[in-house]
Amino acid sequence: MVRLARDEQEMLDGKYGRAQQRAMEILVQYADALGAERFVDTNNVHLFVGFHPYPDMIEILDGDELASKFLLDSDEKIVVDQVKAFNTTHIWAMDLDRWQIMGAPESLHKLMESIRKYSIRTGISLTATCTPYQVGNVPTKGEHCAWTESSAVPFCNAVLGGRTNTEAAHSAFPAALTGKIPLWGYHLEENRRGTHLIHVEIDINSVMDWYLLGYYAGEVSQLAVPVYDLKIPSVPNISMLKGLNSAGASSGGIMMYHIIGVTPEAPTMEMAFGGNQPKAILTYGESERRQTYDNLNSAKGDDVDLVNIGCPHYSLEQLRDVARLLEGKKVHENVNLWIWTAYQLKAIADRNGFTDIITRAGGHLMTDSCPLNTNLFPQGAKVVATDSAKHAHYAPAIGGLDVCFGTMAECIDAAITGKWRGELR
Ligand code: F3S
Repeated sequence: MVRLARDEQEMLDGKYGRAQQRAMEILVQYADALGAERFVDTNNVHLFVGFHPYPDMIEILDGDELASKFLLDSDEKIVVDQVKAFNTTHIWAMDLDRWQIMGAPESLHKLMESIRKYSIRTGISLTATCTPYQVGNVPTKGEHCAWTESSAVPFCNAVLGGRTNTEAAHSAFPAALTGKIPLWGYHLEENRRGTHLIHVEIDINSVMDWYLLGYYAGEVSQLAVPVYDLKIPSVPNISMLKGLNSAGASSGGIMMYHIIGVTPEAPTMEMAFGGNQPKAILTYGESERRQTYDNLNSAKGDDVDLVNIGCPHYSLEQLRDVARLLEGKKVHENVNLWIWTAYQLKAIADRNGFTDIITRAGGHLMTDSCPLNTNLFPQGAKVVATDSAKHAHYAPAIGGLDVCFGTMAECIDAAITGKWRGELR
């Protein structure tokens, strides 16, 4: 049984109201199921509120009833005053401004509106992105967090040195209400140490290279903590690490890793492993890269009718680059070009003229959401081109699409020509 501090017991006893009491009931069950001995304070939660996987089945529009049912697992209507912890929100079920472009129904829009109003009233931040670290939620080293979203979790743990497990809607919301999360998993030093060593024998230069490496690592190490031993010409930037993280969390479930000499808990190989003996020593070379690329490219022909990029949501650098590639060009009449980013970054893209360039070319710069999580793809789409290994991994099963995977430039070329001319095809 989890041991409760005085404030936690008081919450459980209802001293601070029914919402915190219900949240604490859930967290105690969660901690006991995990075998956690105690809780730790958190003031950094990445919530999952603006999305539900079965929106068509939801007829309730009262925000308090919705939150009670789906986030607090209660038929009793529990009214939340204000959530306690600082928070950001993961993607929502639609672009809140351009939902008609996604083909979202009016009923879903009404549902999102009621969640939006509820969020504003209760102090939930309307960030609506899978990349909270791009829009102001940047945990410090050692900070205990409660984050949802598999691609964001390794960014928190490995890149920033924050501490989180992959939380779900039903654990993150109680964490935000109480400022507590069970002390287990990657909150504990001993679980953060390396378990698998991956020697990388080839140059890793581009964003695509990092996606491919992450996808390979996820396949071979699954839920383990890989340690990458590689020679790189320069420290990877945010776009590259987003690729590594999201790919490793798709083919496997990597939540924590180390890059020797780069990530904050791995200045040396010894520190990365922290006394662990590697359970496996693997080599990533040209043949592994080729095999990974082939696995991600399921399309047999070269016709493309959808280009979906920005998974995870594009950074400002990527928005600049895609605008440069599209300047003065026209998207092919048979192709839909969807580009995803965070609302906050689109605001800067608007100011800098990137959005105008994309729109003039016939593309759509969208925010708050993505097709994989909503299953809202353009009608009739059969083949998607993407620069994301995560999108390539899930699009066949979720959208029934064949996939061409490659670089941003190859994707934009496909958007303009309607044909795939990827590097390795
Ligand atoms: Fe983000 Fe959707 Fe990709 S949530 S990581 S754009 S699948």
